[in-house]
Amino acid sequence: MERTSESDLVSLLAATRGVYKRIFGGVDPKIAVSAPGRVNLIGEHTDYNQGFVLPMALQMGTVVVGSPREDRIISIVTTAEETEEPKRVEFPVPMEGGALEPGEPRWANYVKGVIQHYEAGPLPGFSAVIASNVPLGGGLSSSASLEVATYTFLQQLRPDDGDPVTKALVCQKAEHTFAMMPCGIMDQFISVMGKEGHALLIDCRSLETHLVPLSDPNVVVLITNSNVRHILTGSEYPTRRRQCEEAAKVLGKASLREANMADLEASKALLSEEVYRRAKHVIGEIERTARAAEALQSKDYKIFGQLMVESHNSLRDDYEVSCPELDELVSAALEIPGVYGSRMTGGGFGGCTVTLLESGAAEKVRRHIEEKYSRTATFYLTQPSDGAKVHRLP
Ligand code: GLA
Repeated sequence: MERTSESDLVSLLAATRGVYKRIFGGVDPKIAVSAPGRVNLIGEHTDYNQGFVLPMALQMGTVVVGSPREDRIISIVTTAEETEEPKRVEFPVPMEGGALEPGEPRWANYVKGVIQHYEAGPLPGFSAVIASNVPLGGGLSSSASLEVATYTFLQQLRPDDGDPVTKALVCQKAEHTFAMMPCGIMDQFISVMGKEGHALLIDCRSLETHLVPLSDPNVVVLITNSNVRHILTGSEYPTRRRQCEEAAKVLGKASLREANMADLEASKALLSEEVYRRAKHVIGEIERTARAAEALQSKDYKIFGQLMVESHNSLRDDYEVSCPELDELVSAALEIPGVYGSRMTGGGFGGCTVTLLESGAAEKVRRHIEEKYSRTATFYLTQPSDGAKVHRLP
């Protein structure tokens, strides 16, 4: 089982520096940054409903190394092996009034989107190499980590005012307008603001954040990748968003955050059965997440685990974003003593599950899941890590 550690990112950084040197004329890059992926412990599909989410940053992330250049050209190379698209893009720095457009290769859209919306310009040209050890399409926010790493890199070229909220919102805007994925704010917020040893409770209405300690050596967070790739730019995610907006409108609320179960029941007859269930998930999940944050704060892992299971069941039955493979992984995990709770994490339709368990039970859980799961899973034992950083190069 892979136990993720800070040194994985350090090795990735060293390898990426080597790639840069090989490709860009034998000189070392001057800048190196990284931004983490995330796992969401609870609070799923609540961010775009102004609710609560409780993610933690991972030790897996995206690194960008590079240097400014004089000729106003931006040249970027990715080392991602998964993509069959060209691995290098080159384009002139957008001049004032000019605009970058999304296009091919698709991986570069995340980078272009951040460059386009970066407010502290004008930027110089630069050469950069990007590498990541966040599994792509695994529900661990590989995209947000790329956006936030790109933004952090641009901050080294032309510093902005350093406001973390602006940073996260610009990265979200890049995803909306260049990757055409109408995501909420969770992934970019945690990739910017994550803290070692803590989960982060984010109030997606006020944009306030609150760190919740998660560094008890007796418990671990196990991520299990179903290895079913999820594609969130399809129609399911935007459809769920629209259904939530519709429900809020019928209930006469600005968002589902303002509604409670009594409001929902009172308007049940005015909603389709499906939209009713979508709203029921969201209203219940917002409440569960607030309770889960309190449980974690007081180290009540039993309650926390129960809330995780309720969250999964609601995502499976009412929000309908799970899939048989994720359900299998959750059921298998819950069969082993020492497991507090388990649920799908992220947008859904594939990707990963997150399980909270007693440290001593981890190996047994892995073996049991391997035995029961109909496909091949990948396991990561993780610890909450810091958000985006600048690495000093020797
Ligand atoms: C994706 C989005 C997030 C969030 C989750 C579901 O990861 O990027 O903003 O909506 O789905 O909780």
